[in-house]
Amino acid sequence: MHVVGTTGKGKSKLLEHMIFQDIVNNRGVALVDPHGNLADDTLSYLGTTSYFNDQSNLKRLVYINPSRRDYSPGINLLELQENEGLAEHANDIIEVFKRNWRMDTAPIFEDIMFNALMVLIASKLTILELPRVITDSSNRNSLLSKTKDPSVHHFFAERFEKWPKREQTIRVESSLNKI
Ligand SMILES: Nc1ncnc2c1ncn2[C@@H]1O[C@H](COP(=O)(O)OP(=O)(O)OP(=O)(O)O)[C@@H](O)[C@H]1O
Ligand SMILES: [Mg+2]
Repeated sequence: MHVVGTTGKGKSKLLEHMIFQDIVNNRGVALVDPHGNLADDTLSYLGTTSYFNDQSNLKRLVYINPSRRDYSPGINLLELQENEGLAEHANDIIEVFKRNWRMDTAPIFEDIMFNALMVLIASKLTILELPRVITDSSNRNSLLSKTKDPSVHHFFAERFEKWPKREQTIRVESSLNKI
């Protein structure tokens, strides 16, 4: 549905009523509001009703305001969803980077990223720790002990570590500058 109209015609008000109806009728609704007014109006409107008297309703509503530094929600891209495999998840993340940088094929980047992500996911870490997996061999080796996948061990021990130092630095830098 598109709601169009000149300013002051009631677009926001209509949306506010529809969102309110979805909320009080227990339907799922997500509001992405770059201006913030509609979100605030909807919340105040809900506040004038008995909606928040019910504790379970408080838990249903998730309000994320990116400008609030004191309540910033964390999202770990590396967190596995139910029934999702490590390799599948690592490949999905690589796909996002490839799309973002418009890379059709990037075998070295993919190799480095895939194996580093496999280490991070198995260790339940975040993408913030990725540079330290790639550049800090003692950190990498201690994390590798938590990874059972033999192909990941093989990549780092038999390929990555055996690349000539200069080559390794160039490949690492060209991977890290995309993150
Ligand atoms: N159905 C309605 N009956 C009476 N007043 C209304 C109705 N819908 C909206 N209004 C009032 O009209 C004014 C403008 O409404 P609203 O803010 O929803 O417009 P808008 O189309 O979103 O405008 P803008 O493009 O500037 O954001 C508000 O004061 C609102 O309370
Ligand atoms: Mg409006």
